[in-house]
Amino acid sequence: MALLAATVWAQAPGANYDEAKVGNFTLPDPLRMQSGQMVKDAATWRTKRRPEILRLFEETVYGRTPAARKIEYEMVNQAKDALGGKATRKQVTVWPVGRPGPTMHILMYLPNARKGAVPVFLGLNFGGNQAVQPDPAIAITKNWVRPPRHSKETRATEASRGAEASRWPVEMIVSRGYGVATVYYGDLFPDNKDGLPDSIIPKMYKPGQKARAPEDWNAIGAWAYGLSRALDYLEKDTDVDAKRVAVLGHSRLGKTSLWAGAQDERFALVISNNSGEGGASLARRNFGETVERINTAFPHWFNDNFKKYNTRVNDLPVDQHMLIALIAPRPVYIASAQEDQWADPKGEFLAGKGADPVYRLLGTDGMGAAQWPGVHQPVMTRIGYHLRAGKHDVTNYDWDQFIKFADRHMPKR
Ligand code: GCU
Repeated sequence: MALLAATVWAQAPGANYDEAKVGNFTLPDPLRMQSGQMVKDAATWRTKRRPEILRLFEETVYGRTPAARKIEYEMVNQAKDALGGKATRKQVTVWPVGRPGPTMHILMYLPNARKGAVPVFLGLNFGGNQAVQPDPAIAITKNWVRPPRHSKETRATEASRGAEASRWPVEMIVSRGYGVATVYYGDLFPDNKDGLPDSIIPKMYKPGQKARAPEDWNAIGAWAYGLSRALDYLEKDTDVDAKRVAVLGHSRLGKTSLWAGAQDERFALVISNNSGEGGASLARRNFGETVERINTAFPHWFNDNFKKYNTRVNDLPVDQHMLIALIAPRPVYIASAQEDQWADPKGEFLAGKGADPVYRLLGTDGMGAAQWPGVHQPVMTRIGYHLRAGKHDVTNYDWDQFIKFADRHMPKR
């Protein structure tokens, strides 16, 4: 599949996969202000250190997101007999930067067996909404899509229906009492290095602005913005309990769900699946993908300042444990896969662990595991984690843990 091709291409030779060669590194202390002052109470975290870390991530990694525009939306269609009568399917068009303007399309499935508003898993998809389910009623995206292997075709066709279905076990999610909502990430920013002009970013330039500044947002910022605007819509949908929306994403979209959850505290729970470099895994650990590699292969993902750290990651004022800490005290779940060495599964665990002092300061149980757990030993404390057998992907095993974690941390009313 297209995504696989991109992944193989990105796994450059020369990456380190030897634990003995990771070297020593010191992580910035999430509880130490830039001034050197230590954070000793929740109020100082909330009013001083959290805003400071958020600003540092904006300035040096993901870029600054402009103030949100008010969305407009239209219900395109609704069917109460989806999934053989088990679910209601809705398709909603949203104008995320105001109308007129670019549109994004939300596809939702809500359990019909619901009593009142339901909690929802919200995530972006890679191939267009039509790829999420083999359901002929789903509108095929008209936007740029990554061409399938051996093809230059950048428009989605009928053949793409259900192509991503294994990653979206909608029946299982619905049968366990949750709704699911998804948006095609290409509605916000076409995922290629020349995607900027066709993204929402120029539409949000200030009057007279012609280009992005080095600290400005880029693709991951635009994708995360889309997740927050999807939540704006969910807040208006009375079938949804918007106080129980879990934001999730896989891989580059896992980086995105973390950044969305860090910025937007309305997300009740945040899930990162195999998010790797620039997501849950530590930048300072030289294992698998590196900052230099990701900025070279995907120059459109992070802001321009991040490139200055390509060969000096130890000078970054942040590391990814601090991104997890921005989510505190809300529940966060980090999922790794054993064969996904490119994403550095151990580095993903250590970032979760590194956020533990902040979670504990805020009165939660933090990360329950002292050591990196073995395969299929999920940790279900407020910072959750698992290492699954197998490759870079989203599987039913992953979803089973996400749902158990949500059952525990976003209890049914
Ligand atoms: C590439 C990239 C990763 C990314 C992945 C994906 O492998 O190097 O950083 O997570 O693509 O999004 O599938």
